[in-house]
Amino acid sequence: MTAFAYRKGSLHAEGVPLSAIADAVGTPTYVYSAQALTERFREVTEAFAGHPHLICYSVKANSNLAILKLFTALGSGFDIVSGGELARVKQAGGDAGKTVFAGVGKTPEEMAQALVSGIRLFNVESAEELEALDAVGRRAGHRAPFALRVNPDVDARTHRYIATGLKTSKFGVPFEEAVALYAKAKKMKGVRALGLDCHIGSQLTRTAPMRAALTKVADLYVTLKAKGHALEYLDVGGGLGITYSDETPPSPQEYARTVLAAVKPTGATLLLEPGRSLVGNAGVLLTRVLYRKPTEARTFVVVDAGMNDLIRPALYEAHHEFLPLVKRRGRDVQVDVVGPVCESTDVLAKARALVLPRQDDLYAFMSAGAYGMSMASTYNSRPRPAEVLVDGEAWRVVRERERVEDLWRGERA
Ligand code: LLP
Repeated sequence: MTAFAYRKGSLHAEGVPLSAIADAVGTPTYVYSAQALTERFREVTEAFAGHPHLICYSVKANSNLAILKLFTALGSGFDIVSGGELARVKQAGGDAGKTVFAGVGKTPEEMAQALVSGIRLFNVESAEELEALDAVGRRAGHRAPFALRVNPDVDARTHRYIATGLKTSKFGVPFEEAVALYAKAKKMKGVRALGLDCHIGSQLTRTAPMRAALTKVADLYVTLKAKGHALEYLDVGGGLGITYSDETPPSPQEYARTVLAAVKPTGATLLLEPGRSLVGNAGVLLTRVLYRKPTEARTFVVVDAGMNDLIRPALYEAHHEFLPLVKRRGRDVQVDVVGPVCESTDVLAKARALVLPRQDDLYAFMSAGAYGMSMASTYNSRPRPAEVLVDGEAWRVVRERERVEDLWRGERA
């Protein structure tokens, strides 16, 4: 099913015309489809059905409480990278016991908090972090369950800003150091080795790098077991890509086949950390056209959403389709869609052929459910967008538009 589709020329989210939401809530506004979120989660679950596994939705992709609650109800666990994300998971009724904690810079306070909450697994990213976790475990009087995140030195063939599995990346411990670190951990009283972890990057559209990395990691898992480490979990990270324009990422089934073939020899329970592939195409960002500005060099369309609301085009030169909420007929012209932010990189859609929008026309940036609102800022003192969740014919605001007074909360003049 396509959650976002035209019906009689009007772009809908499930049964709701998006223009009705824009009129009621204003713009810019993120809109998510509950049905799309649910279907995608079920698709991934079913793809791995024959193998013991736990899906730990990667909270950073979209951390709205309503979305965390929806995934909790579907049985999901969570992949977190901060105490803030842990607090969100708990606030949404999520289970810390189904949550894994990654990140190269966990503070001892965050570790202690997660340990007390009963976290499933700490994904440890350096030797010094392991020592810090050991200290936290000893102080708390029980062993912190951990996996080492190893860096398999594989080129994920994605945008260089979102590749994480190369030697030059800050993530994970060098592959060659893993065996020695597990041996060292065995002598520690505050930690307990329970798994092995890797994540090579995001928006992966090819299976070959996944296969290469996971084969290496599965091999290491078997070696570690043979050395007497009582590992149970193999965490394969996230990274499955989605279609923004013409990419053809593996389907969840194809992804599962690749992963399962590589990890079969381990007999481990799989932990999966999908983010983008669950929420990316389940969300859009609604915006309104403010001005048209034809110049000698280009025609600019100025909209009321900016790079502070959706930073992906500015940060990664990412492509998001730009669709009118009400289809228009006419001749295509080439335009640059830009936001109001005072930065030259505030170009949300570059060199797009479309019927010249009129002032006040409504549009949607598509595929904006992942790393959209979660990366939004208030730069230029722009309050962050509202968020809406659609379910069938019904919809509700799941985050109010930020108010200007919120902008200076905590400041002292
Ligand atoms: N696990 C770990 C350890 C991660 O670092 C990430 C993403 C994920 C799971 C989830 O990956 P996903 O399934 O969403 O690809 N802001 C960038 C993406 C950064 C990804 C960071 N790590 C973007 O907008 O493209």
